[in-house]
Amino acid sequence: MTAPAPAAQGLKAMPEHPGASAAPADPGATVHALFHTHGLVKVYHPGGDVEVRALNGIDLDLYAGELIVLLGASGSGKSTLLNILGGLDVPTEGTLTYRGEDLTDADDRALTQFRRNAVGFVFQFYNLIPSLTARENVALITDIAPHPMPPEEALALVDLADRMDHFPSQLSGGQQQRVAIARAIAKRPEVLLCDEPTGALDVKTGITVLAAIERVNRELGTLAVIITHNVAIAGMADRVIHLSDGRITAIRRNRERLSVHTLSW
Ligand SMILES: Nc1ncnc2c1ncn2[C@@H]1O[C@H](COP(=O)(O)OP(=O)(O)O)[C@@H](O)[C@H]1O
Ligand SMILES: [Mg+2]
Repeated sequence: MTAPAPAAQGLKAMPEHPGASAAPADPGATVHALFHTHGLVKVYHPGGDVEVRALNGIDLDLYAGELIVLLGASGSGKSTLLNILGGLDVPTEGTLTYRGEDLTDADDRALTQFRRNAVGFVFQFYNLIPSLTARENVALITDIAPHPMPPEEALALVDLADRMDHFPSQLSGGQQQRVAIARAIAKRPEVLLCDEPTGALDVKTGITVLAAIERVNRELGTLAVIITHNVAIAGMADRVIHLSDGRITAIRRNRERLSVHTLSW
């Protein structure tokens, strides 16, 4: 990376952000990593004396431009980890830095700023506004982003140039998910976090969605993290992170990334 991104500048500009001026604790580990986590623990207290350790000591570095597949059984902590990376949730213990900036103790305003500038989210369900066209759904976000791409460009990137004026009800599940991806990436986030983006889709449609994520990663250099419990998807990744009971059990680097179109499940 040559220049700091707007997102990092945004964080630095916030005077109340406690980590903003502090040097990273371990420069060697954090200078190049976009995300650096150390000993992340998340404990939920769903009621009574019950305690759920959703994350149990996560040490992880994620780098700009990587395509990561996060694999694990249901309940292994995948969504918890993704939500913490994306500033939707905060860890109980441990540290999280983004571009060397401490997010662990960031206040709500700093986290909101981080999410708004740096992170695009894609979830299993598309959450499009039914009364707005594809273009309008994307424009909702680009209207409030500092350096957006035109909605048309974002939709073309996910292969929906000919569906801009369709309403969600006029689109297939895969097309709706690709609108959601266009919406997530139109503000040019450095990070795209996808929680089971193909979970509600059949194989053929799922592949068009993965192809859209892969293209965004390749053409915009966006760090993409894809959660799945589907091992077949792992081949498209640079690195595959296996999660079990809130711990990383393996990180495997693929010798080469497989084309999404060769995947099947
Ligand atoms: N808000 C919450 N309150 C209580 N327990 C939770 C909450 N969110 C997740 N959990 C629990 O934490 C564990 C990990 O959940 P999650 O991160 O959603 O796993 P995954 O995405 O891998 O299925 C599970 O045992 C889940 O029940
Ligand atoms: Mg989940």
